[in-house]
Amino acid sequence: MCGIVGYTGKHSVTDQLLDSLELLEYRGYDSAGLATLNGDTGKVKLRKCAGRVSDLRKLCQNDKKLSTCGIGHTRWATHGGVSDENAHPHRIGDVLLVHNGIIENYEELIDHFMLHKELKSQTDTEVVAAVLNRFYQGDPHDAIRKTVKYLKGTFALVILFVDHPDVIYAIRNVSPIVAAYNENGTMLASDVVALGATADRYMVIPEYVITELHKSEIKLFDWKGEPCEAQFMEIDWDTTRDGKGNYPFYMEKEIMEQPEVIKATMEERIIDGRIDLSVDGIPDNILKECERVCVVACGTAMHAGLVAQAFIQSKLQMHMSVEYASEFMYSDPVIDEKTLVLAISQSGETIDTLEALKYARKKGAKSIAVINVKGSSIARESDYVMYTSAGPEIAVASTKAYTTQLIALFLLIGRMAKVRGAFDELDEKKYLENLVQTPDKMQEVLEQKEAIHKIARDMLDAKDAFMIGRGLDYSILLEGALKLKEVSYIHTEAYASGELKHGTIALITENTPVVAVVTQSRLKDKELSNIREVQSRGASVVLMVKESFELSDAEYADIFLLPAMADEFMVFPASAALQLLAYYVSMDKGLDVDKPRNLAKVVTVE
Ligand code: M6R
Repeated sequence: MCGIVGYTGKHSVTDQLLDSLELLEYRGYDSAGLATLNGDTGKVKLRKCAGRVSDLRKLCQNDKKLSTCGIGHTRWATHGGVSDENAHPHRIGDVLLVHNGIIENYEELIDHFMLHKELKSQTDTEVVAAVLNRFYQGDPHDAIRKTVKYLKGTFALVILFVDHPDVIYAIRNVSPIVAAYNENGTMLASDVVALGATADRYMVIPEYVITELHKSEIKLFDWKGEPCEAQFMEIDWDTTRDGKGNYPFYMEKEIMEQPEVIKATMEERIIDGRIDLSVDGIPDNILKECERVCVVACGTAMHAGLVAQAFIQSKLQMHMSVEYASEFMYSDPVIDEKTLVLAISQSGETIDTLEALKYARKKGAKSIAVINVKGSSIARESDYVMYTSAGPEIAVASTKAYTTQLIALFLLIGRMAKVRGAFDELDEKKYLENLVQTPDKMQEVLEQKEAIHKIARDMLDAKDAFMIGRGLDYSILLEGALKLKEVSYIHTEAYASGELKHGTIALITENTPVVAVVTQSRLKDKELSNIREVQSRGASVVLMVKESFELSDAEYADIFLLPAMADEFMVFPASAALQLLAYYVSMDKGLDVDKPRNLAKVVTVE
């Protein structure tokens, strides 16, 4: 994880770096630092501290704004605790370095190069700085090449050599670096979001290419030292961003944006009342000829896969497995050329998902990635990509990325059903009639946010909470529980409610909060019976139920009526309600909703 930036140009660099680092804080926020190099005086300024970018800003407030070249970093600790000395950049001799990734063999390198006395931190990164410095004799390319040959692991390295002022060097393996330029200078970053208003086009730096950022140009050199080129891509979302708008947190803003971004994700794929995936270039034959489907994803993206699984099985009567990407290749999965792998990821950089996808492709599987960030590593690795139109998702807790992933998956499954003969024209029409209603149904929930806020207030003191449901409701709740636990720190578990009596019900005591979601017609009566079982043991049950369902007179701590849709589509209104619940609990507990402890938005370590 970690976010890295570099800028060299006409403007003073400190504020530019700090602003960009703030935009990258979602990648890690336990420490931050920057180094500037003044081309006229050759003076280096290195500022770093444990804490947020706002702490770093305070540290830099008295710095004279003379330098126009610098690099910066925001950290998610892997090797070495959270401390000032472990923060990046690291300086050894003439080398200053920031790093995103993990150097797996750093201990071997310490021994091999006998670096023990030189190192001041516990990080793998400082070891790379020390090795670079050993090899550095005035030729940056030579030192970079010699160093990189020794590295095992993933890395995006951004480097200043003190005697090469105004130039930033970079090289990467797996971990991303994007770059852009305009008339004021050149800039690189871990993510296009941090390029700000630099340009309307950016390039993804290819792996193992030595990149030089000069004030007015970007030069790339392949491993043999030959000049090479990278492909430019359009920046087609608003990277200048309007911040949080009138919302106190990005999470709320992003929840509220869902009807709009869902519509955008659907729009270009529904043409003349039919699902049309030509914008994604996905040929019908790969949907028709595959014998099984396998989802690889992590966290929320994996939960989107679980919803799709329920759907594929019922609509297509086809086998689909959903795997934690981190477990996938170690489970010796049955994958062959008849397998269609779906890699789902907001960032497109999650290393577990990327590695799982690579593994499946090696075994001959065809692949489609469902991705939010254009040009990201998973998108580039996959045979085909469906981009969601969620736009930048800044809050660590994923909301609009999840529901746009679902829309993309529903469209894909709809098309599969059509080409495999499971849908006729009428089925497709009905299916789309439901799908296009989802923005409005979600909007109805969002407009009742104060009712959900009221429910949240009763949960603030809870230590544990349970979420129960069956079938699709259970899949919906797995995501609801992840949302609540990650932003509120309440220990929350989702259970298939029929399973409670096999053990878990022992945990239910007087006033234990239980959120039950009931949206599936054929399971409703059984779900209501399971609710009675926990109520009889003292649980305080909040019921989120499809509004068209008739209920008996049973009492609930609270009831929230979900706008009715066909059962399969109830995931949309239900998810909006569960997201708001998590959000309000976190906010009312006074937590940093957008940056929950220990987490990072982009997970580039295995
Ligand atoms: O970028 P990705 O979609 O691949 O990220 C996967 C998970 O890390 C992510 O969904 C995570 O679970 C979210 N923070 C949950 O809100």
